[in-house]
Amino acid sequence: MDTPYDAWAASQGIDVVKGYGVANVYELPLKWWDRMGGHGVFINLQGTGYLDDAYVCSIPPGKSLNPQRHLFEELVYVLDGRGATTVWQGNGAKQSFEWQKGSLFAVPLNAWYQHFNGQGDREARLLAVTDAPLVFNLFHCEDFVMNNPYVFSDRFKGEEGYFAGKGRLYKDRVLETNFVADAIHIEPIAWHERGKGNRTIFFELAESTMGAHVSEFPVGIYKKAHRHGPGAHVMILTGQGYSFMWPEGQERMRFDWSPGSIIVPPEEWFHQHFNSGDRPARYLALKMLSRRYKLVPGKIKSDVSIKQGGMQIEYEDEDPEIRRIFEESCARSGAEVQMPKR
Ligand SMILES: [Fe+2]
Repeated sequence: MDTPYDAWAASQGIDVVKGYGVANVYELPLKWWDRMGGHGVFINLQGTGYLDDAYVCSIPPGKSLNPQRHLFEELVYVLDGRGATTVWQGNGAKQSFEWQKGSLFAVPLNAWYQHFNGQGDREARLLAVTDAPLVFNLFHCEDFVMNNPYVFSDRFKGEEGYFAGKGRLYKDRVLETNFVADAIHIEPIAWHERGKGNRTIFFELAESTMGAHVSEFPVGIYKKAHRHGPGAHVMILTGQGYSFMWPEGQERMRFDWSPGSIIVPPEEWFHQHFNSGDRPARYLALKMLSRRYKLVPGKIKSDVSIKQGGMQIEYEDEDPEIRRIFEESCARSGAEVQMPKR
């Protein structure tokens, strides 16, 4: 095994999916996961840079997963079903909140929690993105990571309404909240710098160093290419299209996507998302990046041209082949191209 994290993941007795992306997270086969009390699979994609990882876990009908706490952060997206999660600190009062397909929340660091399936006739399925690789490889001690009594009361001390979903706009397009009821339908905010018609909303969850955002782009539109650090898990929520990923000066890799597809662009690889279908496309990104609790200083220049020291390729600077392929793809699906003239 390469790292302490790999050794721990292998010890869990479930499969580990590797590669650059997953075609459909709903179709991944799951295996019984004793520690969790449900069925699961790890997703450890190439682009994570060992900052973060993902796993899917299903809760059997009418059952709950085992209670647990851990020293890694965890963002949870509900892939399917309905249910509830109970969260508590030490001997403190328990509080519960309900979720359904499309809900997004974070487990406060090292708090106890337990997930319950609210339906007796079907399983519930969760996708989690965690920073377990980083934490396991720093401490390489499972007992310290999974059985640590420290209470991070600066993040969560059992406050009533912590998961009520009453967010506040922390700054432009950044919503501070601990629970998003429905990421599939939440209203994003215009962000034209990233491309015509683009709308995005960022989430700061549970005082975490991980973050999330939802981005939507209309029919006949593609976003500008950009690059950044590793570990952003991009999962398609709605629409049909494709993404390109490429290291500078090298060949593009193409990933066709539909709801349930996941890609993780590797560190400093350019990537670009294309809506070639007949309805708006929307994705959820779960990543090792918070705008409040930064791991590295400096402004995030994700919407500034690389010519100005930023991370983005403007439409007029991109390879003309990119527009041609997009027009061809739209013609095939019957979508009308809405891109600004070059
Ligand atoms: Fe990106």
